[in-house]
Amino acid sequence: MKITDTIRYVGVNDRDKALFENQWPLDKGVTYNSYLIVGEKIALVDTVAANFEEQFIANIKTEIGDRKIDYLIVNHMEPDHSALMSFIKGKYPGIKVIASAKALPMIEGYHGLTDDVIAVKDKEELNLGSGVTLIFKMTPMVHWPETMMTYFKEEETVFSGDAFGCFGAVEGEAYDRYDEYEDEMFRYYSNIVGKYGPQVQLALKGMSAYTIKRICSTHGPIWEKEVNKVLDLYNKVSLYEGKKGVCLAYASMYGNTEQAALDLYDELLKRGVETALHNLNFEHVSYSYRDAFKYNTIVVGSPTYNNDIFPPAREFVYGLKSRLIKNRNFASFGSFTWMGASVRLMNEMANEAKMNIIHDGISFNQGYLPSKCNIKELADSICNNL
Ligand code: FEO
Repeated sequence: MKITDTIRYVGVNDRDKALFENQWPLDKGVTYNSYLIVGEKIALVDTVAANFEEQFIANIKTEIGDRKIDYLIVNHMEPDHSALMSFIKGKYPGIKVIASAKALPMIEGYHGLTDDVIAVKDKEELNLGSGVTLIFKMTPMVHWPETMMTYFKEEETVFSGDAFGCFGAVEGEAYDRYDEYEDEMFRYYSNIVGKYGPQVQLALKGMSAYTIKRICSTHGPIWEKEVNKVLDLYNKVSLYEGKKGVCLAYASMYGNTEQAALDLYDELLKRGVETALHNLNFEHVSYSYRDAFKYNTIVVGSPTYNNDIFPPAREFVYGLKSRLIKNRNFASFGSFTWMGASVRLMNEMANEAKMNIIHDGISFNQGYLPSKCNIKELADSICNNL
């Protein structure tokens, strides 16, 4: 697909993959984006995932016929983008691989490739001729240590790797479908990149030296008219700025913690608070991470189980801590039968994660009765701290 005379899309849709990284559900597939930059010389930016060899080479041939590719630029070594490096090396003998210094041992480790593999430095330039100047910008930990971006100076286009990407295959229009993909950009960011907010900030600052007219990421649509919205989302989410609202996630064994969650949900809606309700028993935790990054308040319900947090809720709270999420209000509730532990332990984890605990939490024994669980008071505390 022609993006401009010099930029061609040669990526693929993967509509069959159920779990990204074998853990994150793909409701509508995913894209592995790859691009050709065509000057006097030709560069291929990243490859695609395994098992797409035929389609990938057909896409390349459609754009450049039998012309040779001179450079393979490796912005990122995760195998969803690098799996076909050896395949491309085989198809284009003599192709030079351009990557960051940190990528070189990975290229050798994954592919056994050392010949014609060239490390570039931050801001180093590569001229392809015909007015095509590429600048390499190191962006470590967005999403792996070796990650870099490639900036096409004359077209003011950044090939950004995972940054600004989202889940979802792209059918039809390939550009600027922001409203449609925003939620999946949040889910992608929070699940895949969420731990690395400071590094994303460094990358954004580094890229701010360049005018960005177009973003070509490795997943999802191409951004042109919506570049500013996409940059703004990444800036806010990497600063851990949540909008006013609540991510209310719960798990329940026999419906008592669930009833408390539903009553709290009603109370918050009555007060006009934007609230996302998640049942962790049945729904994948990735959707709760998405909304934990989206909103400024996280409320978790969990019964006590084995003197611990009930596992589905524990996974969520532990994941928040390991993602180093910041600037969040936190509250919890949950039932127990003979000894309560879940609320205390959730508060401890929230405290370790440096969240702002806005309420001691409601730990109630046996059945849920509104009279012994002051849900309205919890809703008041949430509203007062939004
Ligand atoms: Fe899309 Fe970090 O790979």
